[in-house]
Amino acid sequence: MPVRTIIEPFRIKSVEPIHGALRTERQKLLEGAGYNLFLVPSEAILIDLLTDSGTAAMSTNQWAAMMRGDESYAGSPSFARFRESVQGIFGFRHVIPTHQGRAAERILFSVMCKKGDIVPNNTHFDTTRANCEFAGAEALDLPIPEAKEPSRLHPFKGNMDTARLAETIARHGAKKIPLVMLTLTNNSGGGQPVSMENIRAVKDLCRKHGILLYIDACRFAENAYFIKLREPGYANKSPLEIAREIFSHADGCTMSAKKDGMANIGGFLCTNDDTVAQQEKDLLILTEGFPTYGGLAGRDLEAIAVGLNEALEEEYLKYRIASTAFLGNHISKEGVPIVQPPGGHAIYLDARAFLPHIPAAKFPGVALANELYLEGGIRSVEIGTLMFGEHATMDLVRLAIPRRVYTQSHIEYVVEIILEVWRRRAQIRGYEIVEQPKFLRHFTAKLKPVSL
Ligand SMILES: Cc1ncc(COP(=O)(O)O)c(C=O)c1O
Repeated sequence: MPVRTIIEPFRIKSVEPIHGALRTERQKLLEGAGYNLFLVPSEAILIDLLTDSGTAAMSTNQWAAMMRGDESYAGSPSFARFRESVQGIFGFRHVIPTHQGRAAERILFSVMCKKGDIVPNNTHFDTTRANCEFAGAEALDLPIPEAKEPSRLHPFKGNMDTARLAETIARHGAKKIPLVMLTLTNNSGGGQPVSMENIRAVKDLCRKHGILLYIDACRFAENAYFIKLREPGYANKSPLEIAREIFSHADGCTMSAKKDGMANIGGFLCTNDDTVAQQEKDLLILTEGFPTYGGLAGRDLEAIAVGLNEALEEEYLKYRIASTAFLGNHISKEGVPIVQPPGGHAIYLDARAFLPHIPAAKFPGVALANELYLEGGIRSVEIGTLMFGEHATMDLVRLAIPRRVYTQSHIEYVVEIILEVWRRRAQIRGYEIVEQPKFLRHFTAKLKPVSL
């Protein structure tokens, strides 16, 4: 009989002890942090699911490669290895290293956009939107309608609505649209993948109108694996072959190597256009560094060069997607409302459905995230009314899974804590804001529980 258990495809050589504080200590710490989990020290967190960005465990091969890091200011062989690795997967002519994804976004939009332009995307991630708007352009989200219904099942819920894209081009004219972007997977939309069919359809529209297609490639390997699992015709292709096909349809990409680069820092920007690349490198020198290091140490370039290929290993992706789905499926079968189907890097709890007695104005997402911390020392993040104010259409709590960091028993523990909180959900209270900054308030706002 074939073995059904999916195991972590690694063994552990170096361990990092974790200690959750006691419940009474957690209560005190949370109160001292103004009931904002961003302000709780990480030593007091038992399982940290705040983000999957920059939190991966590196492999022995990555650590070994780091020792080869050549820290020359110009012309480092570490850059040559980095470029070779990126080009082997992504295939673009120019590879420009940056210190993280948002630096690539800032440079891209500064070069490509002017005031009044429009940049359609399936859904802009918040730094992508902010950098696009900073360049004077409008960041337009065009997800398919199914993406807006948390409980709706769809194999490629990250797809772009191509009918609305065509309508946008017809209404505003191609001259106003310097580029279209596709975010793989769609982080803000629940970590949902985009199909190859949709990538092709978006590219066809772009080609017809002379518009460039860029990919936000942060989670390209997870997206490639979903295509293998779910899209007809791809079951026998390797994730690398699928990734190469994805990028063959694009004119360039931005990347945060803190996700599927398996690195703790880094990113890059790619293009096939020589003139655009020169303009981007000029800007890079101004704020990031010389084009052969772009704000990174030579050892970081080495770690990314290895990590990008490890992220495409099939055994790893099988475990990665299965362990995220394990968490989602085990809580949803007990009735816990989540964004369906489980995404690649995270599970999103639907806090409005979890706590229907707490109105959006009383921050159900904050209430749920804080309860998971108090109950079991788990840190998650609210993506809802605290983050987006009155523009929030959903109140979600994201449980992002760091790559290769937690084992099956850690995930089983998380399931147990969520189910415990679910059982006593009727007693959970909402919150109100005590103080808040002008921008990006979710990072530093102070709150207090509403009185009964
Ligand atoms: C889809 C997406 N794009 C861009 C970024 C920005 O990358 P970075 O945090 O490296 O600046 C992120 C980070 O979470 C992301 O998820």
